Amino acid sequence: MGYPIWHGQAPRIMYTFVESYDLKSKTIIPFCTSASSPISSSATTLSNLTGEGNWKAGKRFSADDEINNVKNWLKSLN
Ligand SMILES: Cc1cc2nc3c(=O)[nH]c(=O)nc-3n(C[C@H](O)[C@H](O)[C@H](O)COP(=O)(O)O)c2cc1C
Repeated sequence: MGYPIWHGQAPRIMYTFVESYDLKSKTIIPFCTSASSPISSSATTLSNLTGEGNWKAGKRFSADDEINNVKNWLKSLN
């Protein structure tokens, strides 16, 4: 699940998204882009909202990150 960081958090529409879908049997790997803010509490805020799903550790990329960094991260997830 990917999103930009807005004001230190995920955009509100992401809250609506996780509240609207049945994530019970899903594995969710959050990732975000930002100018400089870390992913920090944005991922735990989203997972706490649903209270369900298998949430993995999140990852932050800079807004202008290299595509290879994204590819390497995806590979590392196996
Ligand atoms: C309304 C708004 C708020 C933002 N707040 C932050 C912020 O708190 N910290 C940060 O590092 N970047 C912030 N940004 C920059 C975005 O995270 C960055 O533009 C985005 O990750 C890049 O994706 P995009 O190309 O879809 O905009 C903000 C951008 C917008 C539009």
